[in-house]
Amino acid sequence: MSASRLQGPALLRRRFLVGGAASVALLSAGGSVAERRPPRPLAAAPDPGTPATHRAHLVAAPRPLKLLGPGAPATPGWTYGDDPLTVIRARRGDTLEVRLENRLPEFTSIHWHGIRLPIAMDGVPYITQPPVQPGEGFDYRFALPDTGTFFFHPHCNTVEQVGRGLAGVLIVDGDAPAPYAADVLCLLRDWRIDEATGAFLDFQTAAGAAKAGTFGTLRTTGLGPAPTVAVPAGRDVRVRILNLDVTRVSQVGVIGAEAAVIAIDGNAVAPFPLIEWRMGPAMRLDVAVRAPGPGATASIVDYFAKEPVVLMTLVGEGAAPETATDFDPAPLYAPAMPEPDLRNAETLPFVFGSTAVAGTVRAPNGQVIDLGASLCLNTDSFWAINKQSWPERGHEFPPAPLAELQLGRSYVFELQNVTPHMHPIHLHGHTFKVLDSNKVDRPVHWADTVLLTPKERARIAFVADNPGRWMFHCHIIEHQDTGMMGYVTVA
Ligand code: C2O
Ligand code: CU
Repeated sequence: MSASRLQGPALLRRRFLVGGAASVALLSAGGSVAERRPPRPLAAAPDPGTPATHRAHLVAAPRPLKLLGPGAPATPGWTYGDDPLTVIRARRGDTLEVRLENRLPEFTSIHWHGIRLPIAMDGVPYITQPPVQPGEGFDYRFALPDTGTFFFHPHCNTVEQVGRGLAGVLIVDGDAPAPYAADVLCLLRDWRIDEATGAFLDFQTAAGAAKAGTFGTLRTTGLGPAPTVAVPAGRDVRVRILNLDVTRVSQVGVIGAEAAVIAIDGNAVAPFPLIEWRMGPAMRLDVAVRAPGPGATASIVDYFAKEPVVLMTLVGEGAAPETATDFDPAPLYAPAMPEPDLRNAETLPFVFGSTAVAGTVRAPNGQVIDLGASLCLNTDSFWAINKQSWPERGHEFPPAPLAELQLGRSYVFELQNVTPHMHPIHLHGHTFKVLDSNKVDRPVHWADTVLLTPKERARIAFVADNPGRWMFHCHIIEHQDTGMMGYVTVA
């Protein structure tokens, strides 16, 4: 049977060969499947060589976006450049120098999601840098310690700034021992627009914010309709899937081809078959796909719907290799994170729940601040971490830290979701190891965001090796903006 004719259920039963090792498929309660096998240790990455400096000039400004097609009305987007999708590409060890120029009508900043960088470059207004006011600029400069698929976005009034289009992709190369036959970007996000006029609808609704979030009305892949991408027939290609939506959790899978997960949030894992994988906002998944034969197609789909939604179609192009081999994608190089010392780690509980608080906060000087009064201030508060609700949509009046971590010490965070909704939980400045869960069977892996399913308890661990005040929040932006945000200090 040719791989291109396999459909979802058939693929579910399909055996995946890794060096001939016997393996058993486990179907988890959370819908993710991992095959357990003696893990093939990942090889350490070779020295990346002489580092280079990459410079980019990002001008955040209003620009029309043609999301509804060429003949349809444009949408008043905000982007970082004339090309609405900014992709920055560098190699591990390189330095990035990015000039941000703000031509928006409000302040902004850039957060480099998942990058382990110094706190001053983390891009959180008031917490790590002054807000970049209209007409002003800011210079980001940092080295890239890790390979992988990353992205960047503003960190204030985020539901609107990202909702209007501000976000870019950062790819750090140097993780593949041999090049894939193609490297395909599959960037998912929705838009809330009125299809008659192209105008934006409300970015946030109280009803949505208090539940799963306010969903977009138009889904896009690569800022357009689900594309068809030609890939070399019968060869292994790399697809970098990014969920850059502010709300939607997708459950991605591949129909019509064999596929394996090779990295999660940019961090290599021992390849395991992709059956379906839940991706909350901000999460990335690198997948190796055996491209379909000449003229045949395979599709990347979202199963989190009544019928699978096609996100991208891959069509095989050119002649297939003469000798067919079993699909056995080469692992990427091992992530280079400091290994947490679990025996001596301190365990800290974090409970993600809901709450309701007042519309004012008291500033350190005793002044009572009306949270309805200015940009990024918000009276709606629906969510909390350890019963503490972040009091505003911005970061001007931070509450006490959720935890004070000791520099160099290992920590286990026990994350508990006591709500009936999903929450992709993200920690800045560190990459953590997702250890285990009471509900979802995921392989142990490194990540910067972990999706807590309803009532799930999951444990993550990391070495607190990066001094600063690091945001810790849900990446469903409406949840973040309505309370489910806090920070930890490392000193
Ligand atoms: Cu991608 Cu604090 O966020
Ligand atoms: Cu949430």
